Amino acid sequence: MVRRLPPRIEARLRERYDVTLNATDETYPLDRLISAAREFDAIVPTVVDDIPAPVFEQSDRRVQLVANYGVGYDRIDLGAARRAGVVVTNTPGVLTEDTADLAILLLLAAARRASEAERQLRAGGWEGWRPTHMLGTRVNGGTLGIVGYGRIGAAVAKRAHNGFGMRVLYVSRSDPDAAAVAAAAAERCASLDELLERSDFVSLHAPARADTRRMLDARRLALMRPGAILVNTARGDLVDETALADALSRGAIGAAGLDVFEQEPRVSPRLLALPNVVLLPHIGSATTASRVAMGDRVLANLDAFFSGLPLPDRVA
Ligand code: DGY
Repeated sequence: MVRRLPPRIEARLRERYDVTLNATDETYPLDRLISAAREFDAIVPTVVDDIPAPVFEQSDRRVQLVANYGVGYDRIDLGAARRAGVVVTNTPGVLTEDTADLAILLLLAAARRASEAERQLRAGGWEGWRPTHMLGTRVNGGTLGIVGYGRIGAAVAKRAHNGFGMRVLYVSRSDPDAAAVAAAAAERCASLDELLERSDFVSLHAPARADTRRMLDARRLALMRPGAILVNTARGDLVDETALADALSRGAIGAAGLDVFEQEPRVSPRLLALPNVVLLPHIGSATTASRVAMGDRVLANLDAFFSGLPLPDRVA
């Protein structure tokens, strides 16, 4: 059973498999997932479908593979999948560049007040060029703190350093690729607190896990520089949205650019009402090239699994 996918991927899936589509393209409800796990050999969910333990813990379960369409698998209970012997795969690598582009877009848009300025113009409120109109924050030469120096974090760092002459700081749980660090002349900080204190811009690229949940809480937001800008293209769970709305409305930080939210697709009414936050509907990987490439990875994982070959992207 699969979510709606780009047409050419759906066509290729149908050539090879007996496919049941989630025709409404809505997030799978739990009861449907539980019954799907009894009906199908493989399920292809997306990054917004919750796959909790009860889906795996069924004596008459048929599903052997959950081939996630997306790189983030934080909504899948991997422990329960492992205990049940169900294989889980994802789609890493193919959406890196587009997601990094979107992080830079949000950084620039938040710094230069692009959404606010366009809203003013469309509402007929532009009264012409004035020396004090819509003054924003200079990006060039600023210091960017990258939280999580994996593929996407490194791609953002490279763009920021080489395209905008930014100084790059980072924190990372694991040791990042040395060449990726050198490509942005990035400096490692001893702690997230230090990074927040030293950065003009902060871009989040950590996975959503129990230990990263609300890593940007009120205390940490208070460590950010006055006027600093926060960008999140990773997961909404990383930020305490109430604390963020407080910090933005008090002017404790300058602005934010958000592509992900705690309760997607619900967006906090307080964030919606603030002028100094740029809001996008989780479109980091939303280019035809990325979405087709993600489908190709799903197909590669399905094909390998059902041919008994090593899986390209196994996470459990
Ligand atoms: C992912 O794959 O995890 C992304 O959030 C989808 O854009």
